[in-house]
Amino acid sequence: MRVLVTGGAGFIGAHVVATLAAAGHESVVLDALLPSAHPEGAPSGLPGDRVVVGDVRDREVVADALAGVDAVCHQAAMVGLGKDFADAPLYVGCNDLGTAVLLAEMAAAGVRDLVLAGSMVVYGEGRYDCPRHGTVRPGPRAETDLRAGRFEPRCPDCGAELTPGLVAEDAPADPRNVYASTKLAQEHLAAAWARATGGRAVSLRYHNVYGPGMPRDTPYAGVASFFRSALARGEAPRVYEDGGQRRDFVHVHDVAAANATALEAVRERRPASFAAYNTGSGEPHTIGEMATVLAGAHGGPDPVVTGEYRLGDVRHVTADSRALREELGWRPRVSFGEGMKDFATAPLRDARDRRESRGRREKDAVTLSGA
Ligand SMILES: NC(=O)c1ccc[n+]([C@@H]2O[C@H](COP(=O)([O-])OP(=O)(O)OC[C@H]3O[C@@H](n4cnc5c(N)ncnc54)[C@H](O)[C@@H]3O)[C@@H](O)[C@H]2O)c1
Ligand SMILES: [Zn+2]
Repeated sequence: MRVLVTGGAGFIGAHVVATLAAAGHESVVLDALLPSAHPEGAPSGLPGDRVVVGDVRDREVVADALAGVDAVCHQAAMVGLGKDFADAPLYVGCNDLGTAVLLAEMAAAGVRDLVLAGSMVVYGEGRYDCPRHGTVRPGPRAETDLRAGRFEPRCPDCGAELTPGLVAEDAPADPRNVYASTKLAQEHLAAAWARATGGRAVSLRYHNVYGPGMPRDTPYAGVASFFRSALARGEAPRVYEDGGQRRDFVHVHDVAAANATALEAVRERRPASFAAYNTGSGEPHTIGEMATVLAGAHGGPDPVVTGEYRLGDVRHVTADSRALREELGWRPRVSFGEGMKDFATAPLRDARDRRESRGRREKDAVTLSGA
């Protein structure tokens, strides 16, 4: 199979390309090498059998990259919370306009199979149960509560303490920030494309992905990278709130394998179909726990719990990833303990690390567009 991997120079995309290569598939990488994702400049030794440096918003570039391709694995996106609301047009442009252009060119080229990098951010807060009211949906937390150190969301009906649970794919969407809104819109666009063209689309809603090659701490990076970068500088990881935020940390090797599995499976689906799958380890842990395990494996310093907070952060979100296991036969293989231990000393992303960790590959073409 020849797969177009958009965002193939990014953290997850590069691992997807490596996993596809190991399974005997070819990859065409399309990546604009955004400065927000690559602050240290273009990585050397980009992965892929063909590399197109260009933007998914550019129709001509996308049409060219799609030549001879059987399926698309769409990873390209602006990620993270960003600096402030001024970033909104950039997120919407890269993530939604970019997806629309990609889908329009897939329609034109007759490429019918799509695996999309979705995200658990579409759920907003995770699942909660009230002892009296059953499953409830607390809204965004009030700043007055956060300021007073009241971090746990309460039952919207009776104010009782809630028990966090695993969120399933049919939970209502509740995107809480610009990035989350763009990730949800990507799924809606993919579903509309599938209906209009007879295409088949699978969205993998990744939970918190971590592992080697993760970007360093920029406003666009994830929490594991903040902690890992602090430790690399000899500083204590700074844990927000009280460290009790529950997440599902899933290793990038498992996420890459989920993409390879989904690319095989999507071809067997009904035409005009769309399905979303939670992609998590199934083993919730707290942010405080992660900081402690990382700091321990790194040899210190110990984390500091600061009580700081960010508006728009959710308290708990953990996935029920059973459907992906049962329907697609995927299994996460890297345990939290092993994965975090490796990650504590694994190289983060910059040009030198990338060359060391991935080696150089032969390419049949490198195209430079004016991106
Ligand atoms: N890292 C996570 O924990 C996580 C969680 C949920 C979902 N995701 C999704 O996974 C995908 C990959 O994320 P990542 O963590 O590897 O991020 P990343 O920033 O490392 O990689 C994204 C890549 O996409 C490229 N890109 C962005 N906009 C582009 C555009 N307009 N045209 C061409 N290339 C463009 C960037 O240059 C970058 O190389 C994204 O879609 C993201 O939303 C990631
Ligand atoms: Zn209640």
